[in-house]
Amino acid sequence: MTHIHTIAALGAAALIAGAAQAQTKSAAEGIAEYRALLAEGNPAELFEAKGEDLWKKPRGPKNASLAQCDLGKGPGVVKGAFVELPRYFPDTGRVQDLESRLLTCMETLQGFNAAEIAKTPFGKGEQASLEALVAFISTASRGMKFNLPQAHAEERKFYEAGKRIFYFRGGPYDFSCASCHGTDGKRIRLQDLPNLTRNPGAGAGFGAWPAYRVSSGELWGMQRRLNDCFRQQRFPYPGFGSDVTVALGVFMGVNGQGAESIAPALKR
Ligand code: HEC
Repeated sequence: MTHIHTIAALGAAALIAGAAQAQTKSAAEGIAEYRALLAEGNPAELFEAKGEDLWKKPRGPKNASLAQCDLGKGPGVVKGAFVELPRYFPDTGRVQDLESRLLTCMETLQGFNAAEIAKTPFGKGEQASLEALVAFISTASRGMKFNLPQAHAEERKFYEAGKRIFYFRGGPYDFSCASCHGTDGKRIRLQDLPNLTRNPGAGAGFGAWPAYRVSSGELWGMQRRLNDCFRQQRFPYPGFGSDVTVALGVFMGVNGQGAESIAPALKR
């Protein structure tokens, strides 16, 4: 590590610690109350309804629905799929998360161009469809416990890769995911930073996304959540549905094993 890196890292560490001290408990409590109020009528329900419609409606160049899409529990089975993703899929030979798997189905069943959708900015065009779809699909597993499979060698490989990526330090502040999410009780600005290496943090932090963002009125899938954390880490953005993002999902999801899914949750 160069001298400049050391100073930047120390500065950044001080920033996180300082922010933690400056926050009063009442701020976190205020947010919790706000969430409780909104939870009675979660605006994510609008996205869920749109997603259900998109799942059933014939669309795309092949004018087909997604009703035969295999999310890991057999063609068309939606309930319980979310809490077992990411997982290995023999037809693609890849470990896939919900969003990358939906891209596969949109391409093979409906004739959309998956690479083009992956390049589309969040919230636009078919990316907006994906957001509604993940809201619908995750809702069908609400209250179920995370149980990501680790039987296949590829799934175990992705866990190991995800773990290494999680602890990989770099960028101008020498941050890794673990700098912000590797220990209990960290905070930055108003946000509690969950420890994503074990429960309850891993289950609550991984298991809340997709989530409805109160501040912007948007629904963010895990891919968008991760993109924003790569930004916080001052890393270049990862490719949508890329192996790096899926490996991180496997790492966090397996760490969150047994936690109840609350997705799509309400977030600031
Ligand atoms: C500089 C600090 C920082 C780094 C580095 C960082 N994050 Fe985050 N992360 C945050 C903040 C801030 C939030 C928002 C917390 C909130 O909104 O409650 C967050 C939220 C999350 C969440 C959702 C947690 C929840 O409870 O909703 C996940 C999952 C996540 N980060 C994963 C990662 C991963 C994986 C990496 C590494 C690629 C990473 N983060 C790197 C600061 C960081």
